[in-house]
Amino acid sequence: MAATLVIEGGAKLKGEVWISAAKNAALPQMCASLLTEAPLILENVPDLADVATIGKLLAGLGTRITADGSGRMALETPGLVGHEAPYDLVSTMRASVMVLGPLVARSGRARVALPGGCAIGLRPIDLHLKGLAALGAEITLNQGYVEAQAQGLRGARIRFDLVTVTGTENLMMAAVLAEGTTVLENAAREPEVVDLAHLLAKMGAKIEGAGSDRIEIEGVKELGGAQHRILPDRIEAGTYLMAGAITGGTVTVRGAIRDDMPAVLAKLEEAGATLETGSELVRVVGPERPRPTDFVTAPFPGFATDMQAQMMTLLGLADGESVVTETVFENRFMHVAELRRMGARIETEGNRAVIRGVERYLGAPVMATDLRASASLVLAGLAATGITVVSRVYHLDRGYERLEEKLGKLGASIRREP
Ligand code: EPZ
Repeated sequence: MAATLVIEGGAKLKGEVWISAAKNAALPQMCASLLTEAPLILENVPDLADVATIGKLLAGLGTRITADGSGRMALETPGLVGHEAPYDLVSTMRASVMVLGPLVARSGRARVALPGGCAIGLRPIDLHLKGLAALGAEITLNQGYVEAQAQGLRGARIRFDLVTVTGTENLMMAAVLAEGTTVLENAAREPEVVDLAHLLAKMGAKIEGAGSDRIEIEGVKELGGAQHRILPDRIEAGTYLMAGAITGGTVTVRGAIRDDMPAVLAKLEEAGATLETGSELVRVVGPERPRPTDFVTAPFPGFATDMQAQMMTLLGLADGESVVTETVFENRFMHVAELRRMGARIETEGNRAVIRGVERYLGAPVMATDLRASASLVLAGLAATGITVVSRVYHLDRGYERLEEKLGKLGASIRREP
């Protein structure tokens, strides 16, 4: 029986919580180790299931990883012993596709399983593959695997049809060792993309424009090692701010960068929360009852899709009607059915959800479906009257480090049942 989280709602959260490093920055930065035989030292690496998964994948390719338990991780890939990202690893974590760019750049070869959910076919990484082909890689598909071959990559101008975060990261890592100049247009602007560019630059890469929608990369012959502290997780920070807001408490997140969450902070204020911000600190004072507001998810600096479920949960208790539009993923309302079981009144139609706020949620047994949706069920449980039992918490463990411990320190009544 998988672990569950048992939450007794009603406590107004109070106190301070330190934010861990961003999962979605740690994953590509660990893959960057494939680009050089010199050692990479990453600091503040979060202790998460996904980090362990990508570590296993890299070890299979020849990366030696030593972690001392303090968040400091040394990665060294003196030589590649493999070129394959096997289906069992890729199917548990899509981010494994980020070994594609570095493998082709380092060795001219890669064989990566298509990410999970083959039903949606090539779609999720077609832009990654199109970009790699533009850099001169030969791409073939067979038995659910992508095979890429290249005798040296050559710089190219690549325009993304859609903004893709890992697509931008994959191609940035391929282009740093390509011959000549690569321009990525309509590139993702997420802080995790910028942090990866900082790491690559420390390794000797020549990258201009990271953080804008146009990134220019001047290929170099080889890259050296580097030491880098991974940036804090803006989604974890946003989730704890939501926890303070939804319980009408006062929560301070430390180590979070307010400029990484412009849209989320603006929407929290529209919903009636009071915010105080320092450079690496954000404090939220929750309203007695949230006010309704509308929001649309979009690539950074728009409202983060990874915060959509959490914000919807807050608005589910507002004194009025809110409309949420999800523009990044086509099926990201899986939390709605579970919230309805707790008394929420939410109607969805395509990528739009209409939320008519209710006075309170009622605790109930609910099921986590994906990482961010499961966080929203915990938030609902914190505010609900009665007991909420969240099952399949392994989804949560992929992206939130020591969740029940951090929430417990803020005064929540929450425990993990084996
Ligand atoms: C990254 O996923 C994050 N994961 C996601 O976080 C996040 O939700 C997402 O960006 C959007 O911000 C990591 O960074 C490891 P996309 P990614 O490529 O890169 C379509 C979490 O919870 N698309 O920006 O996979 C795609 O289907 C995860 O930590 C193509 O069609 O997302 C989606 O609709 C969940 N073809 C949209 O673009 C492609 O080749 C944006 O996807 C690539 C993407």
